[in-house]
Amino acid sequence: MSTDGVDTSRRRFLTAATSVVGAVGAGAVAVPFISSMQPSARAQAAGAPVEADFSKLEPGSKVTVEWRGKPVWIVRRTEQALKDLPTLDDQLRDPESEVDQQPTYCKNEYRSIKPEYLVTVGICTHLGCSPTYRPEIAPADLGPEWKGGFFCPCHGSRFDLAGRVYQGVPAPTNLVVPPYMYLGETRVVIGKDEGAA
Ligand code: FES
Repeated sequence: MSTDGVDTSRRRFLTAATSVVGAVGAGAVAVPFISSMQPSARAQAAGAPVEADFSKLEPGSKVTVEWRGKPVWIVRRTEQALKDLPTLDDQLRDPESEVDQQPTYCKNEYRSIKPEYLVTVGICTHLGCSPTYRPEIAPADLGPEWKGGFFCPCHGSRFDLAGRVYQGVPAPTNLVVPPYMYLGETRVVIGKDEGAA
């Protein structure tokens, strides 16, 4: 798991995850982190559900946990971000999440169970790079219309803070939302939901 916003590729994600594990071992974590109660490495690789407690996550921040060898992002959206999401619909390829990229309980305006928290697989739906988290409003390189989201450095795909893909970019679909369910106010299990509980 990691808390950065710079995991710009699958390779970099793996490197970052490895570094954080090393840092935990040295007792040198200086950034907010999520505690997770992980099953064994072998069980995880086989797809076991992963629990994540994100009670320390600040508004506007993101953490990454690993599930089935993939980065899963948990983003705490700000109130402004929640207000901005509906205004983006006409710039998006699939604003209503018609393509089956999420469980039915996340087929809503926010693509999540609780509006405040996005849980999504951090892999670009074009060719599999890991996009960069870009929560800033209107940064120079992304333009005045940018309301925060994810930018894939490989071929320029853009996604909003609900993981919805913009029109005119190579990625064909929204980011994948994994099955998940809440175990508490700020605690989820990823890879398992009510249907499978
Ligand atoms: S892999 Fe993300 S735009 Fe190509």
